[in-house]
Amino acid sequence: MAEHFTSDSLLSFRDRFPITQRSNYLINNSLGAMPAATRDSLAQYLDEWDSRGVRAWGDGWWVLQEQVADQVAGILGVDDGTVSMHQNVAVALEMILSCFRFDGKRNGIVYADRNFPSDQYIYEARAAHGAKLTRVPAAADGFSTDGEEFASHIDDTTLLVAIDHVMFRSSAIVDIEPIVKKAREVGAFVILDTFHSVGTVPLEAKKWGVHAVVGGALKWLCGGPGNCFLYVDPDEAKNLKPAFTGWAAHKQPFLFSPEGQDFRDDGGRFATGTPNVPALYAGKEGIATLAEAGLRNVRARSQKLTTFLIEAAQRHGFGLKSPLDAAKRGGHVALDVPDGYAVCQALSEREIVVDFRPDAGLRVAPHFYNTEDEVRAALQAIRDILDNGDHERFLKAERKPG
Ligand SMILES: Cc1ncc(COP(=O)(O)O)c(C=O)c1O
Repeated sequence: MAEHFTSDSLLSFRDRFPITQRSNYLINNSLGAMPAATRDSLAQYLDEWDSRGVRAWGDGWWVLQEQVADQVAGILGVDDGTVSMHQNVAVALEMILSCFRFDGKRNGIVYADRNFPSDQYIYEARAAHGAKLTRVPAAADGFSTDGEEFASHIDDTTLLVAIDHVMFRSSAIVDIEPIVKKAREVGAFVILDTFHSVGTVPLEAKKWGVHAVVGGALKWLCGGPGNCFLYVDPDEAKNLKPAFTGWAAHKQPFLFSPEGQDFRDDGGRFATGTPNVPALYAGKEGIATLAEAGLRNVRARSQKLTTFLIEAAQRHGFGLKSPLDAAKRGGHVALDVPDGYAVCQALSEREIVVDFRPDAGLRVAPHFYNTEDEVRAALQAIRDILDNGDHERFLKAERKPG
């Protein structure tokens, strides 16, 4: 299916995302636009609940998590049956960490200073259980992680290596090759967080040799909240016994056996309890749409749009906190403008949707359904807002979620 679309013809998908008709929606690295089909999908879920009641589990609800997990597997470049679905990345990370103990000689966790903070909190909580933490500082540019430098911190006491594939502030892509090579040489287990790459940067997790991948569908995959995932290399998975578990991970959950856990042999061994059915109904449409568009096409379009964005930003004299080389950049661009949060609020009033993150600035994240005109208009609006002080009303505004 994907071969039918070149990167420029991807604009034919635009009408499938209604918000693009009302807003200049440029925040797809935070929450991707809702596909129109998702409304029908959720209506189907409600109809099934209403008409079939508890029988809906047997009609298809129970296996929906495996179907969506296999959709995700296709996007990650891994085999069917190797992915499990979770409420959020925190849960997916806790799941894989629950397979390890930190009271032996091999107890190191190596992670990056610029990783997403929530992941850091989770790794750092292991210190109380004996983990030795190594937090690798950012590269000289202050916003990326140098793969070779990171790899030099891995040794034979390292148990886990945790990498964010695309960094959430700067959009820098981490060169994971030297990291995976070193980790494999010393027998460390690599966890790759793809939350900021999945759906905009093509992934080949199996080929890359990472042991586990986490991420979610609510950003570039346009799948809404509640569709996060964990992939575990099946060669490793068969030897892992999660301490965080539930009946959905049992080979025969509906026997309700009191004989103890009997883990499934596939990715389902990392499941917990009752699946989040409405989230799965919401998630499957976006993931299917991205697969249909083709991730290589989406990446080509993204690189074109972000290059266009950077050139426009440079003409306006805005600072940049993202790599200038498109090959080293994910799907968003971080603009270093004064009073970023207030400018973000003034943009929102004009129906131009971006976000602000401390130490990153304004993050602008066009997706395959956005146009060059939208990018141009957003940057001109930033210029106008700063020039006429339109943002000053928001300088003391309370920070809202989002
Ligand atoms: C790279 C990365 N990792 C982890 C998280 C946290 O994910 P969750 O809220 O699903 O636990 C985020 C959230 O945006 C993220 O960007």
